[in-house]
Amino acid sequence: MLGSGFIARFYADSLAAQRRKDVLVSVYSRSMERAEKFAKDYGLPHYSNSLAEVVENPDVDVVVIALSNDLHLGAVEACAKAGKHVLCTKPLGRTGEEAKKMLEMVEKAGIMGGYLEDLCYTPKFLKSLNSVKAGSIGRVLWAKSRETHPGPHSDWFWNMEQSGGGAIVDLGCHCIEISRNFIGKDIKPVEVMCWAATQVHPIAAEDHAIGLVKYANGVIGQFEVSWCFRGGMDLRDEVMGSEGTIWLNNFLRTGFEMFSTGKGTNYVAEKAESSSGWLFPVGDEVHELGYSHMFTDMFESIEQKREPLESFYDGYVVNCIIDAAYRSAKSRNWEPVQLDDWRGRTDVTEGHEFASYDDQYYLIKEEILPNGEKKLILKDKTTGAVERRDL
Ligand SMILES: NC(=O)c1ccc[n+]([C@@H]2O[C@H](COP(=O)([O-])OP(=O)(O)OC[C@H]3O[C@@H](n4cnc5c(N)ncnc54)[C@H](O)[C@@H]3O)[C@@H](O)[C@H]2O)c1
Repeated sequence: MLGSGFIARFYADSLAAQRRKDVLVSVYSRSMERAEKFAKDYGLPHYSNSLAEVVENPDVDVVVIALSNDLHLGAVEACAKAGKHVLCTKPLGRTGEEAKKMLEMVEKAGIMGGYLEDLCYTPKFLKSLNSVKAGSIGRVLWAKSRETHPGPHSDWFWNMEQSGGGAIVDLGCHCIEISRNFIGKDIKPVEVMCWAATQVHPIAAEDHAIGLVKYANGVIGQFEVSWCFRGGMDLRDEVMGSEGTIWLNNFLRTGFEMFSTGKGTNYVAEKAESSSGWLFPVGDEVHELGYSHMFTDMFESIEQKREPLESFYDGYVVNCIIDAAYRSAKSRNWEPVQLDDWRGRTDVTEGHEFASYDDQYYLIKEEILPNGEKKLILKDKTTGAVERRDL
């Protein structure tokens, strides 16, 4: 484990949750004291303040990167050099250029590069993605994802050099990849329109943004991200299809509501702002946030020599979309997604599939009125005339 902070602990908590055969053997932290504390808390036989020593430890087969964004590239380089499989937290890079270097390094070294995008592994997400793939909501038209909270917990997030940006790079990476999964990873993201602003915090980066990602088939992905939201952590997804709809709420109001006068010292949930009043705790946070399914997929991929559901290539595509979002926020125009390495379909165009009523008509709408009357609105395929037909 490289890093001993917030996400390293979430990862350590979830690593053995499902398979129970994966063992943490060593931790790197630049502070020997924190490395020792982490090793003690999780029963690790080894710890060090030398990254190379941890990566090169012969007992280590797989390295998990849980360091600040600016350190991902160097850590991946060390893993590639040592020939160790590597699982990197999000965002993969601060930019598409950085992510591409990491992708090339793991591919050249012949090691697996797993992208730790936990929100694409939540139980609700996995099940809803299966429904989408089974055609239950028809053609996906719009996939929206929102992550907002009152701001991150460590200083480096607020330093643009270290983080690479604000809420877009930090939270947008989740939302973009969620939408991309629903829309289809083989569909090319083409262009981005993004609004971003610094509304509350005295920082150089944006603390609030909304973006639209247009895909080659004309489908829209939407992200809504903020470090200004008050009231905890809001994680919601919405997918609109030609035959149905999916709404997911992963964190607030998930069916567990509690009132407390504030007595006790209870941890409620990540980014919860209060421990009194009406509260929305989360049952098994590491599971509901996707960490356990994520590590199961990662380790099984290594064993089965297959790509994980979320790979370094996905991290690279996400970074390129984020780059376009930043360019758009500045230029106020739709900006192209610059993907030098596109591995998906190239035969997709913006098509229209209209519902046919019969050989002569398209069905525009079927309606039942409050008095029970039924009617159809039809369009003649040849003349273009729109007609009403009472049933
Ligand atoms: N849901 C998620 O997937 C999720 C959630 C939170 C954070 N993250 C990601 O995890 C990574 C770490 O974030 P965090 O929340 O754990 O932050 P954190 O500040 O709690 O921990 C960061 C770790 O990096 C180390 N570090 C920072 N600067 C360093 C330096 N100059 N040299 C050596 N070590 C240094 C810190 O000591 C600490 O161990 C980030 O890339 C972040 O985006 C992912």
